[in-house]
Amino acid sequence: MKALVLAGGSGTRLRPITHTSAKQLVPVANKPVLFYGLEATAAAGVREVGIVVGDTHAEIEAAVGDGSAFGLRVTYLRQEAPLGLAHAVRIAGDYLGRDDFVMYLGDNFIVDGINDLVARFARDRPAAQIMLTKVSDPGQFGVAELDLEGRVVGLEEKPARPRSDLALVGVYLFTAAIHDAVAEIRPSRRGELEITDAIQWLIDHGHRVESTLISGYWKDTGNVADMLEVNRLVLESQDARVEGRVDDASELIGRVVVERGAVVERSRIVGPVVVGTGAVISDSYVGPFTSIAADCVISDSEIEYSIVLPRASIAGVRRIEASLIGHDVEVTPAPATPRAHRLVLGDHSKVQISS
Ligand code: TTP
Repeated sequence: MKALVLAGGSGTRLRPITHTSAKQLVPVANKPVLFYGLEATAAAGVREVGIVVGDTHAEIEAAVGDGSAFGLRVTYLRQEAPLGLAHAVRIAGDYLGRDDFVMYLGDNFIVDGINDLVARFARDRPAAQIMLTKVSDPGQFGVAELDLEGRVVGLEEKPARPRSDLALVGVYLFTAAIHDAVAEIRPSRRGELEITDAIQWLIDHGHRVESTLISGYWKDTGNVADMLEVNRLVLESQDARVEGRVDDASELIGRVVVERGAVVERSRIVGPVVVGTGAVISDSYVGPFTSIAADCVISDSEIEYSIVLPRASIAGVRRIEASLIGHDVEVTPAPATPRAHRLVLGDHSKVQISS
């Protein structure tokens, strides 16, 4: 069995972060979200992984390399534009050959891994096995309709009138039958080759399509609110570890990780929190569910429930909450007079100002 990991796409919902970097590399608890998927793939016993890459290919290749750090053999497959999940399968046709494969969306997060799903597929070998989860807003997702035995009878992408509350999760298992389907389907109204249409083609042509309802938490980390939630979830399961320097005037409460080379001075950190290598926190409060990446500087500030990317600096600002702060960003207070906000924001930035 092989894996096909999708790490192309445009990431419009995470702009402006994705203007300059791949959304699959946005860190969750200071580790790129893509790495969790690669680790889950390796844990399920898969070794050969094709990673579909687009415009951000150089960055993904620099981060993942040949995959040996994960125990994987990685081949990069270039997709000229994000023309849909089924299009990604099409361009991977030669690489996948006639092998069974697991398709994993590189920005998705599945808490319990995929071992059981892969084992079940290897045993039953339906043409396709999809993962479903109950959601409150099915119109935002691919939605499945099941018969009384749990077989999948119909699929729709972002339907206006959903027939169930069962949304497709970003992990799919396929036999080589899927290649016939992706060769036959046409682009949807939004111009993409939809994987839901390809699976519907399998159903219509008499192939067996099965589903598993997963209770393990999953998230499509495509937007900021989901990113922060996944970050919270991962931090919740970490243990405290202090390898950096924490002075006597500081207080660490709960599960706080201070990586080697990080410095905490005259500050209070309430976990779960991770402080990356080389970061400096001084005269500040860092509250629960915050990830501070490598080489950040937080001084005389308060921050909580946020993700801060490498080398950002936050000085003299209180209080930041539920925020995603990009690489090398500087956040500082404005002069006392005139009372005005001074902003230099990149295209598609989003700012909420409290006054
Ligand atoms: P999506 O989140 O559906 O699409 P996107 O990356 O274009 O994001 P946005 O909606 O914010 O613009 O993609 C799911 C995953 O699959 C993601 O990791 C990107 C990847 N992908 C590809 O590799 N090729 C594609 O053609 C598409 C559509 C997505």
